[in-house]
Amino acid sequence: MKFFIDTADVGEIRELAETGLLDGVTTNPSLVAKSGRDFFEVLEEICALVPGPVSAEVTGTDSQTMIAEGRALAKLATNITVKVPLTVDGLKACKVLTAEGTMVNVTLCFSAAQALLAAKAGATFISPFIGRLDDLSQDGLGLIADIVQIYAAYPQIETEVLVASVRHPLHVVEAAKMGAHVATLPPAVLKAMFKHPLTDKGLDAFLKDWEKTGQSILDRA
Ligand code: E4P
Repeated sequence: MKFFIDTADVGEIRELAETGLLDGVTTNPSLVAKSGRDFFEVLEEICALVPGPVSAEVTGTDSQTMIAEGRALAKLATNITVKVPLTVDGLKACKVLTAEGTMVNVTLCFSAAQALLAAKAGATFISPFIGRLDDLSQDGLGLIADIVQIYAAYPQIETEVLVASVRHPLHVVEAAKMGAHVATLPPAVLKAMFKHPLTDKGLDAFLKDWEKTGQSILDRA
């Protein structure tokens, strides 16, 4: 499974990119507003930090504006992925931009029917928002299972399932068990994935016992 990071905070992206575990980045207008910075400047910095796909969302609502915005964004860097909403116009824009060789991430997907349409429009990624479904007492992970099953039934579909609106590590684990291609993680969720109290406890005990030996591995370095 590929891990994208879901933030427009360049500092956080820099810190997490150093782990070597980041395959890409997703942003959205709310995350950009939260950063308080210039959109294009932020995108340039992110694209230089992470070589994988970097999603940048259009804000037009008609297909012609989305296509023009998508072209402007795609000019920034070769790893820009234009994010369009799952609307009729969004999918029209998806078809045009995909035909031009631009990667497209279709966002705000909340049903398997929508995911089928995005694949038909040639989307590079489909982003089902599972946390927001869970918030409404609907089954976010169930949607991932449905989309993975449907896409697998049609080998000609190349669209990757990008699990979005992830709230906790269990979302990631369950989506990975289903074979979802990508999960985009808020920084806190990625950091939480490293943690287990038994790891901390075990490491503490090993280090205390090692100290008693009075040895140093680096003496032989
Ligand atoms: C995905 O690309 C979106 O930016 C994101 O996952 C939305 O998550 P939220 O529901 O936590 O806002």
